[in-house]
Amino acid sequence: MTTTKQWANPLRDERDKRLPRIAGPCGLVIFGVTGDLSRKKLMPAIYDLSNRGLLPPGFSLVGFARRDWADQDFGQIVYEAVKQHARTPFREAVWDRLAEGFRFVPGTFDDDASFDTLATTIADLDRERGTSGNHAFYLSIPPSAFPVVTKQLARAGLATPAGPDEWRRVVIEKPFGHDLSSAVALNKVVNKVFPEESVFRIDHYLGKETVQNLLALRFANQLFEPIWNSHYVDHVQITMAEDIGLGGRAGYYDGIGAARDVIQNHLLQLLALTAMEEPVSFNPNALRTEKIKVLEATKPVGPFAETTARGQYLGGWQGGQKVLGLLQEEGFAKTSTTETFAAITLEVNTRRWAGVPFYLRTGKRLGRRVTEIAVVFKRAPHLPFDETSTEELGQNALVVRVQPDEGMTMRFGSKVPGNAMEVRDVSMDFSYGHAFTESSPEAYERLILDVLLGEPSLFPVNQEVELSWEILEPVLKYWKTAGKPEGYAAGTWGPESADKMMSRTGRHWRRP
Ligand SMILES: NC(=O)c1ccc[n+]([C@@H]2O[C@H](COP(=O)([O-])OP(=O)(O)OC[C@H]3O[C@@H](n4cnc5c(N)ncnc54)[C@H](OP(=O)(O)O)[C@@H]3O)[C@@H](O)[C@H]2O)c1
Repeated sequence: MTTTKQWANPLRDERDKRLPRIAGPCGLVIFGVTGDLSRKKLMPAIYDLSNRGLLPPGFSLVGFARRDWADQDFGQIVYEAVKQHARTPFREAVWDRLAEGFRFVPGTFDDDASFDTLATTIADLDRERGTSGNHAFYLSIPPSAFPVVTKQLARAGLATPAGPDEWRRVVIEKPFGHDLSSAVALNKVVNKVFPEESVFRIDHYLGKETVQNLLALRFANQLFEPIWNSHYVDHVQITMAEDIGLGGRAGYYDGIGAARDVIQNHLLQLLALTAMEEPVSFNPNALRTEKIKVLEATKPVGPFAETTARGQYLGGWQGGQKVLGLLQEEGFAKTSTTETFAAITLEVNTRRWAGVPFYLRTGKRLGRRVTEIAVVFKRAPHLPFDETSTEELGQNALVVRVQPDEGMTMRFGSKVPGNAMEVRDVSMDFSYGHAFTESSPEAYERLILDVLLGEPSLFPVNQEVELSWEILEPVLKYWKTAGKPEGYAAGTWGPESADKMMSRTGRHWRRP
């Protein structure tokens, strides 16, 4: 007879984490509703959440933008975005119910009256739709506008909940500062208005299933953790490669570059999750404590002329198409020294990782769009085979494929069929698409729902942001004095200096 707790019906267990988490009464205000992010990611994610039954019945979406729109015009914008980009099928009934909660407030960020109208709109929603004073403000706007909008929210009395049962939260998109001092200054401005527990900084990589699976892989299994250290690991490579260029994005990217855009946030967060110790539990504070510890122990390795690489893509051919070099792209200064490829070497000074280099690289117009974490193991200390039999045997590797084709690959040596004892690398694959029937939610679905639920685990706190800038800053300072980035041909894997930084230690980059 099975009477023990572990066999109890999980649906009756209040603490069962598999039960769908549905947000309580609330609303979301988006600033920057005419922008790219809002149309491609945020609006579709809100519809998908609604379609999955995860939003409360009276959920309300308020758009704020400098357009002379009525609520219906805004509804039409959301409709088009949903039709074009939503992940789940369009259902008229879901849409109609969701659209009843749409409101639009026209205005600019420096106009007090527009924010007063926003306050009235929100109070009306609380009364009419039962949003109960719970509102999140999503700043999908240029970072230069964060201070003015947070100040306006405070001035209009929108940042502070009216009572202990209500909440107000702010959601901030990257980039969070462009160096350490600007990040510290921005944190001060935001924290003056919203307490840290009400600030949700989006690093959409953390919303991806595969990134969360890294934690399951490491801490739910016995198989990997014993070898997850400097005794067995030779080095770690974290790559985020894109095959597209920067046409049309000069306004955002020129002067920012690959290291600030990707390494400071996404790649250092991936490093933290790969290298951190096991948290005492899966509550947000415990997780954060471990991430902060590992970021505090992480330092760039020099001399930077040899351990880092910086490149800029040149015009040429990619995938059968003629493409422009960065300096020919519209909007970029002809003398721009903005890097479109960046690679750095880091060390994590802990007992677990001492001596194991972590190589981080990212770039545009590279060979393929891929994000992965590759843990590359040391060679077996002894091979009792003929040297010629193991010529094609590389190092064992465990690769977490973050995107696309989410999953995991294990690479190890295997005997080639035949009479000789020849050993060659083979791969074993786990693919999300094959193992599970449900498709993964979009990162923004997960993250927006977490904001509405007040679940902060997947959002970096101010200390993590500042530590990440601290890690990167010495390299950025060196690059500032190191002349122009090296050109690399479109469709390749970056500049020659990137290969050199690896080959000087007898290693090489993976070609995913
Ligand atoms: N796009 C992405 O995939 C992506 C990815 C990661 C992070 N982000 C971050 O997300 C944020 C939004 O990005 P985006 O790509 O959507 O930018 P975007 O396409 O340039 O849109 C910016 C939005 O801000 C509004 N805005 C700018 N200045 C304003 C002002 N003074 N008063 C009122 N509205 C103003 C714009 O309204 P108008 O139409 O009136 O100009 C527009 O709706 C940025 O912080 C970006 O760094 C974006």
